[in-house]
Amino acid sequence: MQENKRGQWGSSFGFLMASIGSAIGLGNLWGFPYKMGSSGGFAFLVIYLILVLLAGIPLMMAEFSLGRKTGTGVGAYAKLSEKYKVIGWMAAFCPFLILSFYAVLAGMTLRYCLGFLVQIVGFDGFSGQGSGFFGFLLYDTKAMVLFLALAMAITMIIVMGGVQGGIEKFSKAVMPALGVILIGIIIFVATQEGAADGYKFMFKPDFTIFADPSSFFGVLKTAAGQMFFSLSLAMGINITFGSYLSKEKNLQKNAVIVPFSDTIFALLAGMMIMPACSAFGVDYGAGPGLLFASMQKVFLDGMGGMVGNVVGFLFYFLVFIAAITSSIALLEVCTASVVDRQLAKGKDPNRKKISLIFAIAIFIVGLPTAMDALGSGGAALKAPFELLGLEAGGAGYAMWNDCWLDFYDMITEGVLMPLGALLMSLLLGWKLPKLVQEECEEGGHTFKFAGYFKVAYRIIIPIIMVIVLYTQIQAFFNL
Ligand code: PFF
Repeated sequence: MQENKRGQWGSSFGFLMASIGSAIGLGNLWGFPYKMGSSGGFAFLVIYLILVLLAGIPLMMAEFSLGRKTGTGVGAYAKLSEKYKVIGWMAAFCPFLILSFYAVLAGMTLRYCLGFLVQIVGFDGFSGQGSGFFGFLLYDTKAMVLFLALAMAITMIIVMGGVQGGIEKFSKAVMPALGVILIGIIIFVATQEGAADGYKFMFKPDFTIFADPSSFFGVLKTAAGQMFFSLSLAMGINITFGSYLSKEKNLQKNAVIVPFSDTIFALLAGMMIMPACSAFGVDYGAGPGLLFASMQKVFLDGMGGMVGNVVGFLFYFLVFIAAITSSIALLEVCTASVVDRQLAKGKDPNRKKISLIFAIAIFIVGLPTAMDALGSGGAALKAPFELLGLEAGGAGYAMWNDCWLDFYDMITEGVLMPLGALLMSLLLGWKLPKLVQEECEEGGHTFKFAGYFKVAYRIIIPIIMVIVLYTQIQAFFNL
């Protein structure tokens, strides 16, 4: 039952599950392990955790407050003052671009899921390639585009259902199931020979990657980008979700639970994938294909037979669903930004039409990511480095020109999101220093860490963001 045209959450649990559903996705299962794998393992983990505590939680709190205070999504900034409108536009552009590559990856998980399903009924689901299927799929342009289209279509249909009917119902069922299967697979992988090296890679103190001081900033940049992506920060998601939240809800509690759950899922994903790599001979630094390369080996070569096919199917199915709960959040921000504008102008918005137009546009923008074989070279579409006649690959962490995905990633995670977070922090720290506190204390809740949050918005987050942006600019010009 919707209370008004914008919609409101049916329950706190529903809100929490949808926020967690948006936060937990490919960022945790795909991004976190591969970025940790190519950025020093333990060293990356430590920096990541510190960033979530110092910057992630205050930023999430800021976004929930902004959304609930203004009762709108990315338009929140414009509502505060016309001067701040541009921060809202930056935030709105990120989900658009991110969804374009996110849907490509979601489509790939769907392809793996169907592959295992077909194997259960006795056919070959991986075109005779077995656990080498990843390299094959990347060059199968028709399949890549088809699965991108499917992922976008599924996302769009759910978003068309509106806040409660679609997003909330869907998220509530799926997140707990994903947790259970992850733990089951972690236990299986732990029993495999060679798994211990994977745990060491994650948890044994080792900062050798910082022998070269410049790599510290590279790791920091990668970890910060990962934090934005994984916590769905700086792109209006939490502002939009906060705007659907009623005044008596406890913002601070949610701003801790969501990052906490998200980080647990990232750690679980790492504890599944890193030991799987060491046990099945996959390079930790294999890059964006890590989730596919290592886990498919676990199911085909480790478990094998019918058990491997069934568990493989379930696993990729749940990963796909986790990706979809995030995709719907991404499409929802885009859709809500237009719905709200039209409502403000006194018009009667057509949610379905708006979602459809965005879905088509995002599909088109996503095509380069589906067609460049993630920069493996010689694909249907040239990767940015090929177009520019450059050498492939930066040292360790991804370079913006490696493939279209990394290029889009650089624009969003690398530049717009840190910049948005910088501006938002300065705004809330210096110009509107009471906003977060007042919003948090609505409904009689006490704002427990008010002192820390103030310093975080005024100084800590701005400093971190400036370093991240500086490192990004340096990496960019250092072609
Ligand atoms: N946080 C999601 C993930 O980790 O996969 C991705 C995401 C969802 C990013 C929603 C942004 C967003 F608005």
